[in-house]
Amino acid sequence: MTRDEPMVGVPAFLTEAISTGYGRHVVSQHLSLGVERGSRTALVGPNGSGKSTTLKTLARLIAPLAGTVYLNGRDINRLPTREVARQMAILPQTHEVPAELTVLELVEQGRFPHVGTLGMLRRQDDEAIEEALRMTRLGDFVHRPIDTLSGGERQRAWMALALAQRTEILLLDEPTTFLDVGHQLDLLQLVSSLNRDRGVTIVMVLHDLNHAARFSDRMIAMSGGEVVADGAPDEVLTPGLLRDCFGVEASVVVDPRTGSPICMPYSPIL
Ligand SMILES: Nc1ncnc2c1ncn2[C@@H]1O[C@H](COP(=O)(O)OP(=O)(O)O)[C@@H](O)[C@H]1O
Ligand SMILES: [Mg+2]
Repeated sequence: MTRDEPMVGVPAFLTEAISTGYGRHVVSQHLSLGVERGSRTALVGPNGSGKSTTLKTLARLIAPLAGTVYLNGRDINRLPTREVARQMAILPQTHEVPAELTVLELVEQGRFPHVGTLGMLRRQDDEAIEEALRMTRLGDFVHRPIDTLSGGERQRAWMALALAQRTEILLLDEPTTFLDVGHQLDLLQLVSSLNRDRGVTIVMVLHDLNHAARFSDRMIAMSGGEVVADGAPDEVLTPGLLRDCFGVEASVVVDPRTGSPICMPYSPIL
């Protein structure tokens, strides 16, 4: 076993009563979360409920204010950055566009955790880059500067960067933002196929509750920094959750085609 290979049965992520936030601004307290390897988890909740903060803490983009995050059984803050980047990739909710960078140059950066000491890309790196561009259907855009792309094309370029890392864990913060409905489904099906065919562990923040229910095995609903529901989509996506967590009156039915629960929100409860 190499140092990169996690032990069987060890969760991808484990937090024990951590606190998250920014300096003196505490977002969550006593947050205990385990994520099984090979699972698909959707994080949902109203604006400002702490979804991105949770994801950023798991990704080590911000440190927990208290407690420890374990990545594949190891304290994430004791792992070298390169090792973290070989195990997990994140598509953050917001990103700054490096001026003048082309799509290809951006996606190549996904290989940096893997390249050897000379820093040269090898054949397997080229394959990973090509595959990431193909999966995100960016073939026609490889030499375009990122800042000339539409919002949706740009979002797919950042997705390609995360995919090029070829990690066992993929964290996605609202990956369907800016995408039209066809590209939304394309991306969510791609994520599901990575999970099914390669066992990639997925944790994604999704705004669309029906997409969350259809494309995950587990939904975690947050409100005010707390986990208020956690379970299979049909346990979590209920009229009660929509009322208490999102403040809307809604019906929930079973989609006859996919078997997933779907909600129809009718009006805000004021
Ligand atoms: N960089 C930051 N500094 C200070 N507070 C922040 C920062 N980012 C987010 N927050 C605050 O943390 C809370 C949770 O935000 P966030 O996790 O982004 O929510 P969500 O992703 O669920 O919409 C909000 O009150 C937000 O204003
Ligand atoms: Mg967010």
